[in-house]
This record gives sequence, C-alpha cells and structure tokens, in this order.
Amino acid sequence: MLPAHQRIPADIHSLPDYERHAIRHVERDAWNHLQSGADREVSLRRNREAFDALKLLPEPLADLSGAHTRTQLLGSEHLSPIMLAPVAYQRLVHPQGELATVRAAMAMQTGMMVSTLATHTMEDIAQAAQAARRELGRGASLYFQLYSQPLREDTLSLVRRAEDAGYEAVVWTVDAGIKRSRFTLPPGIDPVNLRGAASPPRQTSDLMSEHIVFGTPLATQAPDWDDLAWLRSQTALPLIVKGILSPTAASRAVAMGADAIVVSNHGGRVLDGVVAPIEVLPAIRAVVPSHVPLILDSGVRFGTDIVKALALGATTVLVGRPQLHALAVAGMPGVAHMLHVLRAELELAMAQTGCAILCDISKRLIYTN
Ligand code: FNR
Repeated sequence: MLPAHQRIPADIHSLPDYERHAIRHVERDAWNHLQSGADREVSLRRNREAFDALKLLPEPLADLSGAHTRTQLLGSEHLSPIMLAPVAYQRLVHPQGELATVRAAMAMQTGMMVSTLATHTMEDIAQAAQAARRELGRGASLYFQLYSQPLREDTLSLVRRAEDAGYEAVVWTVDAGIKRSRFTLPPGIDPVNLRGAASPPRQTSDLMSEHIVFGTPLATQAPDWDDLAWLRSQTALPLIVKGILSPTAASRAVAMGADAIVVSNHGGRVLDGVVAPIEVLPAIRAVVPSHVPLILDSGVRFGTDIVKALALGATTVLVGRPQLHALAVAGMPGVAHMLHVLRAELELAMAQTGCAILCDISKRLIYTN
C-alpha cells in the first residue's frame, strides 16, 4: 500500500477535487501564495469565467475510429496537447517536490517545463527524468524555464546548464520581471539553481514606504527586446517566449526568432485587470504564422477547456496550479493521476464534439450567435 501522503482519495474525479483536498495538505501561508492572484484577483477569476463563457457546438455522428490525442511540438511527438507549466518551489507542498512531478510527467508521457526557481537542481531533475525514461521505457519532453538574472553571465550560465543537462527547449518568461509578492520562503526551501548568482533587487509589497519600480534597479532589470535578441543569439535550442498577451508583441517575438509563444497571464498572478489569455488567443493566432505553436495557459482545468483552446488556435495547453494540488495530496501518483484525468476528459470531450484527432478541432465547435 502507498504511504498516506501518496494515496489518492477515492472521491477525486476531476482537477478541482484535487484543489479541494490540497488545502488540508499545505501550510497556510504557502497555500495562500500558490492559490492567490494579483491584487483583487479580477484576472484570476476572469481566467475561469472566460473559459466558462465559451459554448461548444458539437458535431454529431462523426467517425471516431483510430481516434487519438497525439500532436507535434517543436519537432517532437507528444502524446497529448497537455504539458506541465513551470511552477516554482514545489517542495513547499511535498518533500520530493519537482523530482516527484517529473517522474509523474515521464510516466504519463507529458512534457514538463522546469522552473528556474525549482527546489531541486535542474541537473537532478533531468537525471530523474532520464531514470524514469529508462525504467518505464517511455517519457516526454523536458524544457527549461528561464528567468533573466540581474547579470547576463548568470542568465547565460543557466542556459548552458540547461543545454548540458539535455533540456530540449528554453522557455523565457517575460511577464514576471516586475511583480509584488508578500510571501517569504520558509527555512530549507530555496531556489537552488541560483546559488552563487547575483540576487535580484528586493521585491516588496510595501508600495507606501518604498518606490518599487521607477527609480530602482527593478525597472531597469526587467527583461526587454534587446534581451530577446541577445538570448536568441546565445542558444541553438528552441526558444519559447512565455507571458505574452499582445498580438503585436507576439508577432515581434516570432520575427525575432522565437520558436513558440506561451499566451499566458501567469495564472492571474502578476497584473490584475489584464485580459484572460483565452480571450486574446484568436487575435494572436491571426497574426502569428500558422506553423508557430501557440501554447496557452491560465485557468485550464477541464478537458473541454482544452477543446476550446485548440478550437481558438492553441497548439498545446499548460496546467499550473493543478500540479501543485495533486502533488500536495498524493505526490508522484497524484500528479500522474491528475494528468490521466485531464487527458481522459480531453478524449471524452473530443468524442462528444465529434473530433477523432486534434486537427478536427476547429473554430466551428465554438458557438457564436
Ligand atoms: C507559477 N508560474 C510560473 N511561471 C514561470 O514561468 N515560472 C515560475 O517559476 C512560475 N512559478 C509559479 C508558481 C506558482 C505557485 C504558480 C501558481 C504559478 C506561472 C505558471 O507557469 C502558469 O503560467 C500559471 O500557473 C497558469 O495558470 P493556472 O494553470 O495556475 O491557472
């Protein structure tokens, strides 16, 4: 029998069930940190409301023989259009942290983006993925999510380490350079990949007593277009730019050599009042060449959300918080089960809307008056 913290409760049937259970497994401050959105959480709520507002229009009587969820992303075959979003500090919710998550991802043949702020080194996480691939005879893609560091040499060192460790792509996150946080990491939890790197300026929630943006290093150290040009020139790995909502910025990033875009509002955690990614997705799809993958996150919780995202132009979706919920409740088996549930829901939604393969999912499935 699995130890208590790895047992999957019998009443878990969907991702929100993990969320409901997870609150009992996570220390209160950490729970508030991972669940919360920026300010009044308007965008956090909007991410769900925007999915819920979309209505599906199923096509009956489709031939579903040979149905599957396989897809291509950056030259590799993926079992489904689902990946794990980069999520920091996973040992906050489970002692094995990212090592458990990556084993689950490999077991379920689901790609994972490993955060710069992981609580295991990126080398150890890549090794755990390799070991799981050998042991199980299957696996999936591993990408490294990069946060620009105050010194370019530190940023470059992260990229080189990712290349050496066998990561298949760099996911450069551009929407969190200027961000408030009230959360202080508990003792024993730290961003181990950044040991030895110059620290970023202190980020504070205290707007009244400190000027946190203009006039401080914070504003000048947020990444900019020059950094994209520089980063593109430094690595031959596919480069994905994460955290874009503006069609203009998406086309500019692609013109500068980005291989894919993550349309994301960081799960509503950075700028409150910002548009939900699913709302702006069609406008971005319209200006980005069709061969460039658009990866969408923020609020994805159900198989039907994935059908909606693909119908509006996404290639793949990411799940953020649900991996922490499942990890907190049941460790590696929890994350594996969560991914299984989501993929099963996707298959069901595809079958019910009359789609045998992902290419059958198109805008005609979204009801418009
Ligand atoms: C994140 N996210 C994030 N993104 C990133 O690029 N690097 C990171 O280290 C983190 N860390 C992180 C921690 C926590 C606790 C959360 C909730 C989110 C954002 C993440 O990749 C993704 O964009 C959102 O989580 C997607 O929204 P949902 O699925 O959580 O609604």
